[in-house]
Amino acid sequence: MKFFLDTANLEEIKRINRLGLVDGITTNPTIISKENRGFKEVIKEICTLVEGPVSAEVIGLSVDEMLSEARDIATWAPNIVVKIPMTEEGLEAVSQLSQEGIKTNVTLIFSVAQGLMAAKAGATYVSPFVGRIDDIGEDGIELIHHLKKTLRIYDFTTEIIAASIRSINHLEKAALGGADIATIPGTLLPKLWTHPLTDNGIQQFLSDWEKVPQITK
Ligand code: E4P
Repeated sequence: MKFFLDTANLEEIKRINRLGLVDGITTNPTIISKENRGFKEVIKEICTLVEGPVSAEVIGLSVDEMLSEARDIATWAPNIVVKIPMTEEGLEAVSQLSQEGIKTNVTLIFSVAQGLMAAKAGATYVSPFVGRIDDIGEDGIELIHHLKKTLRIYDFTTEIIAASIRSINHLEKAALGGADIATIPGTLLPKLWTHPLTDNGIQQFLSDWEKVPQITK
């Protein structure tokens, strides 16, 4: 399973990148708005820090607006993926961009049907929003299982990014469900490698080590 970081915060990206855990980055307009910097400037800098795919989202909702923004964004760096919302216009844009060799990530996926349409249109990635599905009382992880099974039956090469991941449980269940990638907020990721019993164990070992006679030869 690949890990993308769901952040545009450069310090978070640098810190976690040092651990060898960052396979790519996803952003959205909300994430970009937290950085108080220009969109292009921040995305270009992220693309220099991370070798893997970096998703940057279009704002326009018409086909022409999406195509024009996507073609521009795609020139910013070789590892750019253009994020397109799951609408009729978005599908048309994805179909065209895929013919032009521009990689796309279809975002705001909430059903198997939407994921299937996006894959059929030529999306490189589809992003089902696990947490937001749970928020409305449905089962986001079930969508990951069903979408994975569906795309596999028909041999689509489109990869599933489990998005809107809010907890360790989400991450573990998305991995079991066959998500190719999980995109994880920079604030959540450190919780994935910590456990209170690990911390207690280290303290116990250090405390017991004090009882070992310190013989120098
Ligand atoms: C990533 O591609 C999504 O934009 C992101 O995971 C959404 O997460 P949220 O539902 O916590 O805002």
